[in-house]
Amino acid sequence: MRFTQSFIITFLNTITFATKGASTPLSKFSIGQRSSVPPPPAPEPITVVELPLPPVSQGACTLEINPHGTGCMSPDYFFQSGNFLPDDNHVVALLNFTGAPAAPDPASIYSGLQAILIKADGTTFPNGDPWKCVTCGVPAENMVGSTPLSTNPQAFKDGKRMLAEYNVVDCGDALLADADCTPDKVYIYPIRWNVEVDGSGTGGSIREIRIHPDDVHLGFNSYTYTAGALGEVPYFSRLQFNPSPTTGTPLAPRYDLVNVTALRSPVPQSVLSADGDQLIYNLSALSVGELRGFTGLGNEVTYLGPTVESGNFDVFAADLTTGVVRRITSDTGYTDPLDVSPDSQWNVVLTTLESHRMEFVSGMRGVPPIIDTVAVGTLASIRNNGPRRFFQPWLLDYYGDRGGYNGQLINAAGDGNPGSINDPNWNANADPKFSHGGNKIAYFQVLVIPPECGGTNPLPCPTSTEPGGRVYRLMLATLTSRTPPQLPPVEPVSDVVPWGTPYVPGAPSPLSSPLLNGSYTLKGKVSGSAYTKFTLDNTESYVKSVSATYENYSDDGIHFIFGSENVTTTPLNLTLSLLDWHSDLVSYGETISTKITGLGGFHVEDDETGNIFEANGTLTTTVGAVVYRQPVNGG
Ligand SMILES: *[C@@H]1O[C@H](CO)[C@@H](O)[C@H](O)[C@H]1NC(C)=O
Ligand SMILES: *[C@@H]1O[C@H](CO)[C@@H](O)[C@H](O)[C@H]1NC(C)=O
Ligand SMILES: *[C@@H]1O[C@H](CO)[C@@H](O)[C@H](O)[C@H]1NC(C)=O
Ligand SMILES: *[C@@H]1O[C@H](CO)[C@@H](O)[C@H](O)[C@H]1NC(C)=O
Ligand SMILES: *[C@@H]1O[C@H](CO)[C@@H](O)[C@H](O)[C@H]1NC(C)=O
Ligand SMILES: *[C@@H]1O[C@H](CO)[C@@H](O)[C@H](O)[C@H]1NC(C)=O
Ligand SMILES: *[C@@H]1O[C@H](CO)[C@@H](O)[C@H](O)[C@H]1NC(C)=O
Ligand SMILES: *[C@@H]1O[C@H](CO)[C@@H](O)[C@H](O)[C@H]1NC(C)=O
Repeated sequence: MRFTQSFIITFLNTITFATKGASTPLSKFSIGQRSSVPPPPAPEPITVVELPLPPVSQGACTLEINPHGTGCMSPDYFFQSGNFLPDDNHVVALLNFTGAPAAPDPASIYSGLQAILIKADGTTFPNGDPWKCVTCGVPAENMVGSTPLSTNPQAFKDGKRMLAEYNVVDCGDALLADADCTPDKVYIYPIRWNVEVDGSGTGGSIREIRIHPDDVHLGFNSYTYTAGALGEVPYFSRLQFNPSPTTGTPLAPRYDLVNVTALRSPVPQSVLSADGDQLIYNLSALSVGELRGFTGLGNEVTYLGPTVESGNFDVFAADLTTGVVRRITSDTGYTDPLDVSPDSQWNVVLTTLESHRMEFVSGMRGVPPIIDTVAVGTLASIRNNGPRRFFQPWLLDYYGDRGGYNGQLINAAGDGNPGSINDPNWNANADPKFSHGGNKIAYFQVLVIPPECGGTNPLPCPTSTEPGGRVYRLMLATLTSRTPPQLPPVEPVSDVVPWGTPYVPGAPSPLSSPLLNGSYTLKGKVSGSAYTKFTLDNTESYVKSVSATYENYSDDGIHFIFGSENVTTTPLNLTLSLLDWHSDLVSYGETISTKITGLGGFHVEDDETGNIFEANGTLTTTVGAVVYRQPVNGG
């Protein structure tokens, strides 16, 4: 089987990439769907500065390079930033220290992947560094059973703890940023999800974990492997410290994930479903893909949804209590990393929009996601070129894309030259984060490096203008016209997600929707119909082929679609398929758009972990006078 619409997965490849107080406004905020949509906001002033990182060394980290003896980073090893400490003056991050001298040199502790804090207010720590390593030098007895830190650094609101997969870094009574938070006070506790009936074993494998704004719940995802198919299920849980566990490993102080709920309804829902010979297209279907976080007030989970327009990847929110679904983004780019402001009124989203990489498949609007049934995994993979992202950060209001508004590009300033704020060769990676006051945003970017440039790739490799030639940079955007609102603390939400499926250790993964199989008619909400056909493979385990013929199909009264398209998939392995694709669509209305494959069709492969685009033939979308072509092979 392939990834289905409800199982879109983002492989981050992070490691392989050398690599008012009052209750009235709150109750208003918690309404999922709003009756009236205001006009888009005017652009606002944004300043962007770069924050300092440790010095770079190519080899040994000497006192010449770092006179304080507090470590070096390599130009191209791992860095990832997270959110702000509660004072909004520090950003948490993970950084791979390199070149440390051997013990007993005191600088020997600055080695490997560590949790650090970076000053975001131009000041320094007492030793003169604008950054502090929190986990360097933590004694072994303080980290029994922990796993190496790897990704997704996030501070808790108590200022004393931070999370880095798959552990909680805890400084006891001391604030992480304070001088008295010294390595001997720091504990690194593993996080464990029990998946055995008797509580035994090492626990289930979790990924992409996010702290809920109430500071006590945690969202996470977990892969499933059923019938040779890779899938992913999102979960909601409570994080509970267990000082002396009696079952399972490690038998050391740890955080347990308890009251776990799969964010899937017991009766699976999907955007497309069959009712007799009719196809039902439900944009509000509660079908949580990959969990990506929570809205600031904590009442909604955010996630990468199934496509609700063909080829168009967006983020959604679903109310944890009511299950009401809200589409946050609807631009033509691929969007998934996001953060929502503490008052839930603003989003910062990473989208490929600026690069126009996806529009050859997503540019024609209002096309139902019929061919996506087989194409979605390959389509999602086109967003990256290998480890290279094409993301930039955008500030988007609650009501989302509308009219010509796709939000405001946060890093618009600059002349586009190498190293400038808007240099397109610097791409943002997950996650951008709002400050607690909502008036600052931290995001980090990575410079394109070989083989995603140079050699046979048509993009020449840029030379880094950063200190030491490093290919990571941490940026701080300030929304200068904003003042932090007074928000009450987020009260702990219920452990119960009424529409989810309570997780019981040992129970099978939640069911997926039944496969569409046969011919169905989809009636446009405004006019026309789409005549669709879904054909299963011989083993009846996945949809092999899908076709759709549109006759004056319109859901919005703006786009009227004619023509047909079909896609057939041939799985090559768990993460790679060959798609054979034919499209000949035209849309009339506000603009005339076409989506057309060249003679002989379009044949494409793009591995879901490798993200290398490889196609024969062409697929071209034209919107008015603008022509969107596919990326070059390997580019
Ligand atoms: C960290 O850097 C070392 C070299 O100093 C490298 O061997 C290792 O793979 C890197 N680890 C990560 C997670 O980037
Ligand atoms: C949450 O889990 C605890 C045990 O870990 C249990 O006592 C409690 O009843 C659970 N709460 C709910 C709402 O299921
Ligand atoms: C679409 O899904 C939502 C959420 O489950 C449900 O409330 C609604 O009735 C569905 N609409 C249709 C037309 O099935
Ligand atoms: C799929 O449709 C074919 C043709 O109508 C039918 O023979 C087959 O039993 C169906 N399979 C499933 C799993 O619905
Ligand atoms: C398509 O439907 C619209 C709305 O019903 C109608 O005005 C238009 O004439 C139709 N176009 C064709 C070619 O049938
Ligand atoms: C797809 O469409 C093309 C062009 O109309 C046609 O030649 C081909 O037979 C169709 N393939 C399938 C599987 O429907
Ligand atoms: C699938 O095949 C591609 C291309 O050979 C390869 O890069 C990828 O690692 C394979 N994936 C799996 C899961 O075998
Ligand atoms: C493209 O064509 C070449 C040469 O026939 C073939 O080796 C390759 O597999 C094809 N790739 C795709 C994605 O169709």
